[in-house]
Amino acid sequence: MSDLVNRGILRRSMLKGAAALTAASALPTRWSIAQEKPLKVGLMLPYSGTYAQLGENITTAIEVLVAEKGGKLAGREVQIIKLDDESKPENAPQNADRLVKRDQVDVLIGTVHSGVQMGIHKVVSESGTLTIVPNAGNGAVTRELCVKNVFRSSFTNWQPAYGMGVAAARNGFRKSVWVTWDYAAGAESGAGFKEAFEKGGGEVLPSLTLPFPQTNFQPLLAQLPGLGVDLVGSFFAGGGAVQFVKEYRAAGIKLPLCGSGFLTEGTLPAQGAAAEGIETALHYGDGLDNAKNIAFRKAFKDKAGREADVYAVQGYDAAQLLALGLEAVRGKIEDEANLYKALRAAKIDSPRGPISISPAQNVTQNIYLRKVEGGMNKVVGIAADNLADPGTGCKLA
Ligand code: BEZ
Repeated sequence: MSDLVNRGILRRSMLKGAAALTAASALPTRWSIAQEKPLKVGLMLPYSGTYAQLGENITTAIEVLVAEKGGKLAGREVQIIKLDDESKPENAPQNADRLVKRDQVDVLIGTVHSGVQMGIHKVVSESGTLTIVPNAGNGAVTRELCVKNVFRSSFTNWQPAYGMGVAAARNGFRKSVWVTWDYAAGAESGAGFKEAFEKGGGEVLPSLTLPFPQTNFQPLLAQLPGLGVDLVGSFFAGGGAVQFVKEYRAAGIKLPLCGSGFLTEGTLPAQGAAAEGIETALHYGDGLDNAKNIAFRKAFKDKAGREADVYAVQGYDAAQLLALGLEAVRGKIEDEANLYKALRAAKIDSPRGPISISPAQNVTQNIYLRKVEGGMNKVVGIAADNLADPGTGCKLA
């Protein structure tokens, strides 16, 4: 018997159990013990490598939300099971399988890297496990491969880069090139930037790339001054972004540098003066002046001892989304129809501002234009207002 069939049987017997539970309300003590089984939450995230800090911030922010809820979601204790995916796509199906089949998690929150997400997606599309993507932006997950049990609390790679392209064209730039890692996040963000920048009358040359997670930037940097561009756009994140920005400045390149906001997100203390003046677009900014953001940043800093960033916000919102769904079904995660209905209708008060869930189960949100000033990603405008990913090819709606 396949694991898939096994799981189906498990789910059916859980549902039968739930029906029996209603009928047996005359036995409150015994049955309420069964109902209070901890909710197993699997976190499949990078805790090592260039994206380690991103995984740590997502995790800490989830813990912040659970603590705010008194350690329980919809009355159920939360048992967190962490797995380091090392941002290695080749290990992703096996790692996701461990959480789903061996650990039998009720919900999987993961991950950061778009390639690893594809491995998770294959596993959870088959198992039907509720999955919340707290970062990875690969379009397929909420486009042509969308499934009813997978939601994002993050973005698609297209969204911030599209916003950057809009803002760059609006600011009068005319010719650009995208410099990035050669994998889904780099390619899809480059495509989003190109789409918007060319719509605004600009031209984008073929991207300059290197394999993930390499940081041998010198051969790419050496080409930039001779390309005849008036702007350089970029996607890098985590440790790679720190190094790219520092080497860009050290190379003495005078062309303005912009990008998807990950380029300067969670990286500013390490980038220092090299990042000052860089403009990027993202669904978050440090100084967003709303009550939720102010309270969240304080709670995160108190726990982590460092400033919050977009990764922390996405982790917090993954937990907010899960809490909201569970509250709608009073902790009965097996009540899938009502759980998904609540998640799809979710309106969340996020530190990034109000967000909603699109028909393809991605986040609809503002994309802010930010500028690094005094070591902060200061919001200087809105690059794209309430932007939804097109969700092309998703048939859930
Ligand atoms: C991605 O692989 O999708 C990704 C990684 C880090 C930051 C943003 C996107």
